[in-house]
Amino acid sequence: MSLPSKVRIIDVGPRDGLQNEKQMVPAAVKIELVQKLQEAGLKEIEVTSYVSPKWVPQMADNHAVMSGIRRSKAVRYSVLTPNRRGFLDAEADKPDEIVVFGAASEAFSHRNINCSIAESIERFAPVVEAAKAAGIAVRGAMSCTVGCPYEGDIAPSKVDYLAGLMKGIGVERVDVADTIGVGTPGKVQKAIEATLKHFDVDHVSGHFHDTYGQALANTYAAMELGVWNFQSSVSGLGGCPYAKGATGNVATEDVVFMLNGLGIETGIDLDRLVDAGKFISDHLGRKPQSLAAVAILNKRAG
Ligand code: HMG
Ligand code: MG
Repeated sequence: MSLPSKVRIIDVGPRDGLQNEKQMVPAAVKIELVQKLQEAGLKEIEVTSYVSPKWVPQMADNHAVMSGIRRSKAVRYSVLTPNRRGFLDAEADKPDEIVVFGAASEAFSHRNINCSIAESIERFAPVVEAAKAAGIAVRGAMSCTVGCPYEGDIAPSKVDYLAGLMKGIGVERVDVADTIGVGTPGKVQKAIEATLKHFDVDHVSGHFHDTYGQALANTYAAMELGVWNFQSSVSGLGGCPYAKGATGNVATEDVVFMLNGLGIETGIDLDRLVDAGKFISDHLGRKPQSLAAVAILNKRAG
């Protein structure tokens, strides 16, 4: 099977990346990060989430961030909405796409959004309907598709079940997420194959956290199945506050470096992306969590 000739990356750094930061990051810094990502050529950016500020205080400035970014027509800006309240708040800020987020694991669903998988689908259904009626695209994130911090290994049949429910309520495309980064290429392929029973390959994306260093291998394995949409986080930021032990998403810089080497088009300027990663890492007071970015910065310095 040949690999795709192009890949579309959604940078989830401003949302998945920053949601887990203990220190409050000012809205102005988040806005500047979005700006630098779009200047680097990102065509999709997950900007923030409209969740309870008691659950995720870092995202409490969702309105300030969404209304502060300088939007480009060429970029799709997405936001997370767990329920009707979140959707109504988000709608006022005119996102291009909303994301409902469910889990293949019951335990994680309870911990993350305080309801069962079935209840989450009941909540999402009117949100999906309202979004589509308002001309807003709808993505569905599926967490814990290979492993769960509370239930352990997750069978592909659970992914099959969740993907079918997402399809049933009208979700247009889905993310196969390895929330805690325990997936290895074969397991990830099985989760994707379960999803492909319900969505065609153009509507399935890979979302891999890099906790065990497998995310690039998993990205490659997903491309072997024809997947060409991925989420990653500039500078490898992130993690989910309700997924104990999970570290950041695979770094966008590392993904782009690999894709450049494979001759796969992304439309992203790696040098400018490294600048974006350095900007946010400097703000957070740490080195970029991307080996490619560190190597490029060392080369520049030396
Ligand atoms: P709940 O406590 O069951 O909600 O939380 P509730 O309906 O009973 O409401 C409780 C309070 O929250 C009320 O306020 C509501 O108004 C308020 P009070 O009367 O107490 O003052 N509330 C809201 N406020 C703002 N925005 C809202 C909202 N909804 C209710 N949308 C809820 C249920 C879903 C709200 C909560 O569990 C929550 O916010 N969870 C979000 C957790 C989260 O953001 N996790 C991280 C994102 S998922 C992720 O990172 C995984 C992903 O990257 C893929 C992967 O890697 O797996 C996507
Ligand atoms: Mg995630």
